[in-house]
Amino acid sequence: MTKINLKNDASLLLIAIFILSASLGTCYGREGKRWRHSEAHPLKKGEGHRDGHQHHHQHHRRLSPKVMGDGYTVPHETMTSLAGSSGSTTTFNVLDYGAKGDGHADDTKAFEAAWAAACPVAASTLVVPSGSVFMVKPISFSGPNCKPGIVFQLDGKIIAPTSSQAWGSGLLQWIEFTKLTTIKIQGKGIIDGQGSVWWNDSPTVNPTDELDSISSTAQSPTNSSNDMISTNLSGMPSTKPTALRFYGSTDVTVNGITIQNSPQAHLKFDSCTDVQVFGVTITSPGNSPNTDGIHLQNSQNMLIYSTNIACGDDCVSIQTGCSNVYIHNVNCGPGHGISIGGLGKDNTKACVSNITVRDTTITGTLTGVRIKTWQGGSGSAQDIMFSNIQVSEVQTPIVIDQFYCDKGKCQNETAAVAVSGINYMNIKGTYTVQPVHFACSDSLPCIGVSLTTIQLKPVQGSHWYDPFCWETYGELKTATEPPISCLQKGKPSKLPSQLVSC
Ligand SMILES: *[C@@H]1O[C@H](CO)[C@@H](O)[C@H](O)[C@H]1NC(C)=O
Ligand SMILES: *[C@@H]1O[C@H](CO)[C@@H](O)[C@H](O)[C@H]1NC(C)=O
Ligand SMILES: *[C@@H]1O[C@H](CO)[C@@H](O)[C@H](O)[C@H]1NC(C)=O
Ligand SMILES: *[C@@H]1O[C@H](CO)[C@@H](O)[C@H](O)[C@H]1NC(C)=O
Repeated sequence: MTKINLKNDASLLLIAIFILSASLGTCYGREGKRWRHSEAHPLKKGEGHRDGHQHHHQHHRRLSPKVMGDGYTVPHETMTSLAGSSGSTTTFNVLDYGAKGDGHADDTKAFEAAWAAACPVAASTLVVPSGSVFMVKPISFSGPNCKPGIVFQLDGKIIAPTSSQAWGSGLLQWIEFTKLTTIKIQGKGIIDGQGSVWWNDSPTVNPTDELDSISSTAQSPTNSSNDMISTNLSGMPSTKPTALRFYGSTDVTVNGITIQNSPQAHLKFDSCTDVQVFGVTITSPGNSPNTDGIHLQNSQNMLIYSTNIACGDDCVSIQTGCSNVYIHNVNCGPGHGISIGGLGKDNTKACVSNITVRDTTITGTLTGVRIKTWQGGSGSAQDIMFSNIQVSEVQTPIVIDQFYCDKGKCQNETAAVAVSGINYMNIKGTYTVQPVHFACSDSLPCIGVSLTTIQLKPVQGSHWYDPFCWETYGELKTATEPPISCLQKGKPSKLPSQLVSC
């Protein structure tokens, strides 16, 4: 008797649930969109709905979590179909979260919702499908509470807003990934910062600095020399955003994507460890101001390879706090070359060590491989290897500048960031101004500068200068072309006293 009653109760309960969900259905039906999400999402996924948005990654059946980030419940049918299937990743397509992908509609909320859904699921995949252009406002994919192993599958195109309202009083980045563990951005997609509206803002940012613009100084959120000079022609805020920034993350991979036309730096890593960047393309015009290709700071164990970078500033900029950086098979140009520094600005302590750049071509740039430090700084740049660098029509292929100054005039100071253990091996090709320029500090000369197999020829018809060295000590391991007789052998007679250890 009791058993039968229980059964009856159970079926009554089922009927009640059915009625409840049916009425919920009509309720949501009026809102339309929201209900369609919850119903269509798991059922239609992977079936190539929304004409033109199918893509290869979806051909296998995708599994859905029991509860989506926004509390969408997976219908019963899908739940049962999950039974028996082996573990697989879970996929969240921004189109299923309301993204239009028409290049005009604001898709920010859809990206946020898709991320909210992917974040709590380990090894989930957020899909930005090919065939669509998504306009996304400044956004942060923030991860302190996200599961590790998320893949951001970027096959479509994401564009930045060009209206000044979207940027408030100015932001340091457009797309940000923070505090994540094992995060991968991959795919054939494009991140386009639509930077031209910003570049026009500051036509000649710094007339006194023909050598460099202020790539390395725009770090401070509230202040940079940039802020003071911007002419504000188009009404964009004077603080220009980096296109794609990773902060405080470990085990980061960026693979395959293109990042183009950033208002400022294209790809930035700050306080990250164990990073791999490969198969990436970065492009912006050679005359776009401050558009570093890849900017590294306070980051360790960085591997960058098989990557093409054309931009208006440093192809790769390595800033303070970086060590164990390995860069190979990179094509750089146009741009300002591959740079370490400027280190030690505003009397700060800077530490950079164990940097390798090899098997790289540098074409039509301002400098080739460069170390630049500000007077008055402290700390050191040491254990640096540049090898197998092919330069072509580079103004000054080899540079150490301990008098770096982008303000026109900087005071002479005795303190300096110590530069030691700098190795140049197999640097070959052509230059247009000067093959080698070593300007080291009087109080803290550069030591351990070694040159092996240097073959640099002036481009026909260019007005070129002989190699220059000032307070630069080290060794020529082979004869060089041209001869670099200004390098002083061995070590300075009095070694510097005011070394600050790192
Ligand atoms: C910006 O820098 C200037 C000059 O260095 C300084 O006077 C001013 O207080 C700074 N502003 C902010 C907001 O830090
Ligand atoms: C830029 O121009 C707008 C509108 O004229 C103004 O409100 C804003 O304060 C300016 N920004 C800067 C940094 O000068
Ligand atoms: C230097 O960095 C490389 C990675 O680029 C790493 O394998 C090596 O162990 C580092 N060397 C030292 C002495 O830390
Ligand atoms: C700094 O020192 C250099 C070399 O000694 C000298 O030519 C230059 O005039 C000095 N600059 C200033 C601002 O004192």
